[in-house]
Amino acid sequence: MTERRHFRSIDEVGIDSIRRLLDVTDHMAEVSRRPNPKVPALRGRTICNLFFEDSTRTRMSFDTAAKRLSADTMTLAVGSSSVNKGESLRDTVETLSAMGVDAFVIRHRTAGTPWQIAEWTNAAIVNAGDGWHAHPTQALLDAYTIRTRLGGATSFDGLSVAIVGDVRHSRVARSVTQILTMLGADVRLVAPRTLLPPVPMAPSSHDLDDVVGDVDVLYLLRMQSERMGTGLVPGGTEYTDRFALTPARARRLRRDAMVMHPGPMNRGVEITVDPSTLGQSLILDQVTNGIAARMAVLFDLLGSSGTLEDGSNV
Ligand code: NCD
Repeated sequence: MTERRHFRSIDEVGIDSIRRLLDVTDHMAEVSRRPNPKVPALRGRTICNLFFEDSTRTRMSFDTAAKRLSADTMTLAVGSSSVNKGESLRDTVETLSAMGVDAFVIRHRTAGTPWQIAEWTNAAIVNAGDGWHAHPTQALLDAYTIRTRLGGATSFDGLSVAIVGDVRHSRVARSVTQILTMLGADVRLVAPRTLLPPVPMAPSSHDLDDVVGDVDVLYLLRMQSERMGTGLVPGGTEYTDRFALTPARARRLRRDAMVMHPGPMNRGVEITVDPSTLGQSLILDQVTNGIAARMAVLFDLLGSSGTLEDGSNV
């Protein structure tokens, strides 16, 4: 088994593979811009989306990525599956594997599920978000979005990034911090003390106004209310007053700053300015690039060399 068999966390994948995947993403972005954005690279392969948690963009993005590579796709709608009749995760995975699945794309509320599932199947595993732990394809698409904005820079040395908001409950924050740090960026977490992780993963501070005028990248996080006990943030508008991107803070952003958010946005909580009015917003570029990044990951796991570059196959 090679280390490329799964894509489950940024640290497991490692910097060399990340750099290679960023290059493959660039190629996939070019494919996606073609009038017919489809290549036969994964014809005959079957990819199964197993989403045990809500998702709009990640599920649609993986589905689109698989289709652009000509793979067959299966999507289990957990709400109407035998999971509701008490079928275990293991039986569900073994049943679907027996139908001939080459890769499972998994989102689950429990951290570590992609590692557990890998014990029960020979299929490749892609982590589409496990609990509070990791969301590595989000990190890859974000790194690619920044790299594109920097004109294809392969190193982020000196890039100052502030990741703002509910870091504690955010798998996105963990994976994005890992990838951007690996690529050389200076990552700072900006959050109330109660929303920082118990184990520090980057330098942190508690005052957005201190950094908003200086940063190259302002990465906003969604307030993960569904993962929160009561009392972690004060009520009323106190959180928004101190940590949201407001029109006043947006005016202090550098002209060449990048404003990012993984979605879904809680307008009026972490952002009160309309991002479509901000020249610095890359939020929709992130969504577009997500398809190319996921094509890169799926191709890397399931493609054979030659099927992408060979003109007769592309
Ligand atoms: C994120 C997630 O699900 O972790 N969304 C996404 O995949 N784009 C972030 C979030 O839910 O806040």
